[in-house]
Amino acid sequence: MKPIRLLIIAGSERAGSYNRSLARVAAAAARRDGCEVTELDLRALALPIYDGDIEYGPGVPPAALQLRDALLAHDALLLVTPEYNAFPTPLVLNAFDWLSRISASAPGGGGKEATANKAAALLSASPGPLGGLRSMNLLRQYLGGAFQMIVVPQQFALGKAGEAFDEAGALKDAKAMHGVQGVLDAVGDLATALKPR
Ligand SMILES: Cc1cc2nc3c(=O)[nH]c(=O)nc-3n(C[C@H](O)[C@H](O)[C@H](O)COP(=O)(O)O)c2cc1C
Repeated sequence: MKPIRLLIIAGSERAGSYNRSLARVAAAAARRDGCEVTELDLRALALPIYDGDIEYGPGVPPAALQLRDALLAHDALLLVTPEYNAFPTPLVLNAFDWLSRISASAPGGGGKEATANKAAALLSASPGPLGGLRSMNLLRQYLGGAFQMIVVPQQFALGKAGEAFDEAGALKDAKAMHGVQGVLDAVGDLATALKPR
């Protein structure tokens, strides 16, 4: 892939998360290709469940500004998330909902200004056969609509994730690695094309 600054976010941070493992595989591949990679732990941001009384009381939590600043500092986002009942996880939706509440007049700029026209790509993993495929369709709508991100058409869903990784954390199946690499190549190309000349 082209060498870009890539922000990688996993939609699950539980110990033993397959999506975190897949995010690590993608991060290692992107670093091998010369990318500057940041893996942002959404759980560590410890954002409360969105609540208007927080927004209009103490205000948008500073951790949401960290997400905005991370997006601003990178050329593209790679989101690696499981599906819960065919939907993206609350960890992802809650963080991005908070991001959307950072006003354009805030110091450092608005949340949606940090995402607009930015390249994004999706991976998912699940122990089930579909690999979390359905949540990616919804994420395209969510990120492309409200957040005006440009999500590359290439995506990869890792099914039967419980058997997919070897002891070193690498993907056992070369075809699966090829799928991940195809997504990375696509987002690298798009982010490079979108860079101001
Ligand atoms: C509330 C809930 C709903 C789930 N729904 C789905 C689903 O719709 N499709 C699917 O493939 N797996 C589903 N699963 C199983 C997850 O894919 C599985 O727990 C997976 O390991 C979560 O990702 P992680 O390993 O990265 O934490 C669900 C799990 C939970 C907790």
